[in-house]
Amino acid sequence: MNEKKSIIITDEAIKAQRNIINKIANLNKNKCLKFHIKTYGCQMNVHDSEKLSGMLKEMGYINTKNIEEADIILFNTCCVREHVEIKILSRVSQIKELKTRKPDVIIGICGCMMQEKEIVDKIKNYYPYVDLVFGTHNLFKFPEILLKAIFSDSTVIDIWDDNPNIIENIPIKRADAIKAWIDINYGCNNFCTYCIVPYVRGREKSRRPENILNEIKSLANKGYKEITLLGQNVNSYGNDLHEGITFAKLLYMVNEINGIERIRFMTSHPKDLSDELIFAMRDLGKVCEHLHLPIQSGSNRILKKMNRKYTKESYLEIIDKLRVNIPDIAITTDIIVGFPGETEEDFKETLDLVKKVRYDAAYTFIYSKRSGTPAANMEEQVDKNIKHERLEKLIELQNKISIEKNAELNGKILEVLVEGISKRDKEKLTGRTRTNKIVHFLGKPDLIGNFVNLKIKETKAWTMQGELIQ
Ligand code: SAH
Ligand code: SF4
Ligand code: F3S
Repeated sequence: MNEKKSIIITDEAIKAQRNIINKIANLNKNKCLKFHIKTYGCQMNVHDSEKLSGMLKEMGYINTKNIEEADIILFNTCCVREHVEIKILSRVSQIKELKTRKPDVIIGICGCMMQEKEIVDKIKNYYPYVDLVFGTHNLFKFPEILLKAIFSDSTVIDIWDDNPNIIENIPIKRADAIKAWIDINYGCNNFCTYCIVPYVRGREKSRRPENILNEIKSLANKGYKEITLLGQNVNSYGNDLHEGITFAKLLYMVNEINGIERIRFMTSHPKDLSDELIFAMRDLGKVCEHLHLPIQSGSNRILKKMNRKYTKESYLEIIDKLRVNIPDIAITTDIIVGFPGETEEDFKETLDLVKKVRYDAAYTFIYSKRSGTPAANMEEQVDKNIKHERLEKLIELQNKISIEKNAELNGKILEVLVEGISKRDKEKLTGRTRTNKIVHFLGKPDLIGNFVNLKIKETKAWTMQGELIQ
């Protein structure tokens, strides 16, 4: 989508970024400058923001939640659905007023939206107060781009088309001290016809297992208890390394790391979900009993048009196998309604599938046309009102199932990793079960970071209340 740039990255190029970090840190000495990052989109973006925070921290900036007192404001963007894009652009428009009041503030935009040429052109033409723009493939170059922006009057724009290299050792400032995100593979090769991710995140590439394991070991040494392995399709981890390593094999290695008690991962593509992975989930004590397995649609006709490469029947077979091998497993999913050509009959098949699987939770989306993807040019785009009606029906059904499934846990004793103080009720603590359900309970803050057993007392669709078992 963008102009091709040189993509051979040498050790010197990486060292150069380190030197620039030191240079900016020197410039910032005794200045107490602050940064604020607004992150949109999936966990991969959240984790990229942790890398941006890590670099900013080493450059001498400190984090602030208050955008008004920030010296650098970064928008890490998502473009998976159009309305998110509109929201982000409107937020960037609002920032003009702040920039007029405080002209020294540096405004930057990065992330997936910046890999769309039309959007970068829009920024260039209509948002001249933006100081720097970069994309997903050259995040490691942020120090260099920032240094240029500090000394430039015009917008510094640096976007790469792709980057086959994986850059290790970017500083990371993690938002949490108990659980951590770990990238295992980047990009996506699947090209589902509705999805823009392969165009903005590039082709699939796996991190070397030793780099992943070393990162997790160092987290364990710092006291982290839970890790989530991240990728657009974790199940195809290792395919590009051609060394026989698979995602399941990686899980066996991670399971050996002392100190880490819980292992999670996302997202899994049904077409690549192997028996080897199901058995690993069954046999490895630290791998949690939760699987996020997006179905997208319950109609084979629509699945084909989506290029998902599985059928409703093969998906249901996987669900059966999972439930036989891991009886308490929680299963969650993603579903799109209103994909081009989706009829009432197709939608009914989605509802039927939801009834059959009885998901613990589902993330439901209205199909959003993404230009450049094959589905955007398909005929029979579904009427907006029909899409909304279908979404409502689907949410109503799933809520009912989530409530019923959680109610089955009433009175049970479950292990919870305590994550922090509850946002809603400051008297309470909050944590998650191995099945990824959120539980609130009364307890002292010194329990944060520990495992406790809770008796489940009250359940809703998304959260539960528990009582500490001494
Ligand atoms: N790689 C993951 C996640 C991709 S994005 C996966 O394959 O599951 C997260 C979810 O956004 C997708 O699962 C899909 O349900 C939804 N999504 C992606 N593109 C969309 C579009 N154009 N309109 C509506 N929902 C979309
Ligand atoms: Fe998008 Fe499909 Fe890749 Fe997921 S697997 S990121 S939905 S193209
Ligand atoms: Fe959005 Fe990019 Fe993630 S488009 S969903 S932030 S990979």
